[in-house]
Amino acid sequence: MAASPSTVGERVEVEPRLRVTLEMGGEEVPATVAAASRLSLRLQVEPERLLDAGEDAERIFVRAELASGPVRLGPARLLPRLPGSPRHLVFTGNLHDCRALVHEGRVADLRSWFESVPMVLAQKERIRPEFRAHVADAAYDLSVWRRLFDDEDRLLAGEPPEVAQAARDALLATEGRRFLSYLDGKVQELAELVRAYTREEHERHGFYLRRHLWPHLLASEFMKRTNLKPSGYAGDAEVMLMIYANAYVGASTFGQLMHKHGVETTAAQAVRNRRRLIPEMLREVRERLPALGRRPFRFLSLACGPACELEDVFRAPDDAERIEVSLLDQDPHALELARAAVRRIEARLGAQVAVRCHQDSVRTMLRTRDLRGRFGEHHFVYSMGLFDYLTQPVARAVLAKAYELLAPGGVLVVGNFHARTPTRLHMEYWGDWPLVYRTEETLRALAAGLEPAALAVGSDETGCQLFLRVEKPA
Ligand SMILES: C[S@@+](CC[C@H](N)C(=O)[O-])C[C@H]1O[C@@H](n2cnc3c(N)ncnc32)[C@H](O)[C@@H]1O
Repeated sequence: MAASPSTVGERVEVEPRLRVTLEMGGEEVPATVAAASRLSLRLQVEPERLLDAGEDAERIFVRAELASGPVRLGPARLLPRLPGSPRHLVFTGNLHDCRALVHEGRVADLRSWFESVPMVLAQKERIRPEFRAHVADAAYDLSVWRRLFDDEDRLLAGEPPEVAQAARDALLATEGRRFLSYLDGKVQELAELVRAYTREEHERHGFYLRRHLWPHLLASEFMKRTNLKPSGYAGDAEVMLMIYANAYVGASTFGQLMHKHGVETTAAQAVRNRRRLIPEMLREVRERLPALGRRPFRFLSLACGPACELEDVFRAPDDAERIEVSLLDQDPHALELARAAVRRIEARLGAQVAVRCHQDSVRTMLRTRDLRGRFGEHHFVYSMGLFDYLTQPVARAVLAKAYELLAPGGVLVVGNFHARTPTRLHMEYWGDWPLVYRTEETLRALAAGLEPAALAVGSDETGCQLFLRVEKPA
């Protein structure tokens, strides 16, 4: 691999490139290529031999010299020349990932996913008969409901917009609620059916269910996102916004109902509850701390997501003067949404909020020596929707680091879904959203060895959201 500089504004960027040999018409033509897209290469300079290649341009064989040794990349062809644009090369046999090839010097064929097809298809032989029947019934029922709601949508399409909206509202409130009750029943049936399954069986049967219900799941914006995971995991900041909004969202009535069902589960209600409870806990800590004088009250949210709860922390202009907030999240988009929340608060209060954003993984905390120097010292540190993704050893290590960030007398609060969360299997099977659920005991065990002034585990009204509260000695 080599690199060539190209200027973008003031910055000089280096575009990775790769030297290749093109075998064509019995000749060997050396060339240098860059990745034009995931599946195409761009010739840096068009070798003279290609200018008038004729039919040979359709029958090229590409070789390259990678750090790992020579590779035969396979047949390719040149795309027709476009005026003023460099020549592009596409593979005609393999589907090479051209970015991996040029940027990393790695051969990756995008068809490799298909290698697992026989193994995945064979999984169906290991599905229990009663589960097959459950899924077949669900798939049939959903398609019937969908057809009926789609028919209504077609009827409403001919009405004036305000009439259509009124009719859709009536439909959602009547037949829509009946459909949501049907879904509740189905989820209940599923939970009873799979209660005794092993972890491996849950995974296999969940995969089987999602393949069968896929088009219906994708009709829900919520389930679509938890299943497709554009951020790499199910519960990203956009999913959190959907849960907080708890609205009918979607292009069709059926889609809106499927979406609403996902965002009004007991677990989703627990998420909305904790958004309200965190500012209450923060206020309680603030009132209890000895007078800070002119010093501000400082708090930190670990894995802040869209930080919607800040709305209830900063209520008056005075709060903006006396409270400083630090937000940490690994996802730049989550921090963007959190900054937007801060801007809305500033506009409402007519005052500036002191906010520091850290785009970091909590795993960075495990490696950081001068933790307070980097993240500050805080009177209140909390984390919601993060520990549910961490194994017990990682969760313990992160908790210890978060505790280190507390000022004397400060309080750390960590949320985690309870193992008894009734919609747990629903989220896992339909949403492909497995979590690390904990009990009071396993959550409390995370604080072993900390020697706090006080340690307590509580929960929200649903009993689904556990809170571990750790208070540092003053
Ligand atoms: C379920 S959301 C919760 C967001 C927010 N705390 C709330 O309750 O609305 C999880 C957030 O954790 C962030 N996250 C996940 N793993 C992380 C990690 N290792 N370090 C930092 N942030 C992480 C994600 O980017 C996402 O914004």
